[in-house]
Amino acid sequence: MRQDSPLWHAKHVVRAFLLLIIAVIALVLLRSLLVPDSWGQFGWYRGDNIAEQRAKEQRHGGNISCLECHDQEYETIAGAGHANVKCEGCHAPVALHAVDGEWVKEMPVRREAELCLNCHQWLDARPRAFPQVRPREHVEEQGGEFGPAVCFDCHDPHAPL
Ligand code: HEC
Ligand code: HEC
Ligand code: HEC
Ligand code: HEC
Repeated sequence: MRQDSPLWHAKHVVRAFLLLIIAVIALVLLRSLLVPDSWGQFGWYRGDNIAEQRAKEQRHGGNISCLECHDQEYETIAGAGHANVKCEGCHAPVALHAVDGEWVKEMPVRREAELCLNCHQWLDARPRAFPQVRPREHVEEQGGEFGPAVCFDCHDPHAPL
């Protein structure tokens, strides 16, 4: 820029402006490289993700998937206080245990107070109406002695009361 140019005194502004333009161009180029093609196809996420999730193998089958082989447990659960608790929530996804009506692998059984306390440990944040206990106090009140599987001395996990 020549010294007699009217912009001579504004050359720092011109430089900053040029830098800004370069930054915007770089941003647009980078964005087109980094953002996946299907972004925004349906909304503020990668459209291809829907097909990818659908292609995953289904692992959970709900309580109904246990019925044909464990009708007794199915009936017991449905008729008691854990009717709304899912078998697979306490055990494991059905696909790890039985596939197409065939036994595949042993199902985990967690005979431990920890399992119950995941849901029933007293927490101030839980709604008061939800049954919850302070484990040591509760066991003592009921005349038991606390231990790692103590809940099963008095409660059946499939029909807890
Ligand atoms: C195709 C039949 C079949 C289906 C479906 C099935 N099971 Fe089983 N399950 C078996 C057989 C057979 C056994 C006994 C062999 C064994 O001890 O693992 C068994 C055993 C179990 C055991 C005891 C494991 C042990 O170590 O004592 C649990 C718990 C169990 N199943 C839970 C489930 C749950 C929960 C479902 C549904 C999500 C389910 N099963 C679906 C056939 C099935
Ligand atoms: C609240 C957690 C919980 C839920 C819900 C639950 N189970 Fe269990 N289940 C257990 C525990 C813990 C044991 C081990 C009990 C024991 O050893 O006394 C067990 C044991 C079993 C057994 C082994 C046989 C027995 O009775 O000891 C089978 C089979 C079984 N469950 C199937 C099921 C099925 C099918 C469902 C759903 C219809 C289900 N369970 C729901 C926690 C649960
Ligand atoms: C996944 C969460 C979950 C786990 C794990 C669980 N429970 Fe529950 N439990 C519930 C829900 C949900 C209810 C029903 C609450 C309601 O009616 O408002 C319930 C109800 C109960 C009740 C009251 C039943 C009634 O008829 O009023 C008892 C007792 C109980 N559970 C004991 C246990 C014991 C013992 C274990 C461990 C073997 C256990 N729970 C594991 C969720 C759970
Ligand atoms: C010595 C026996 C005994 C032991 C051990 C025991 N309970 Fe209980 N529990 C009971 C009895 C009896 C009731 C019913 C009392 C009542 O309704 O006031 C009960 C009620 C409950 C309730 C329902 C509380 C409510 O407000 O409705 C829950 C949840 C529960 N127990 C969870 C557990 C858990 C988790 C363990 C293991 C840490 C456990 N219990 C160990 C005897 C026992």
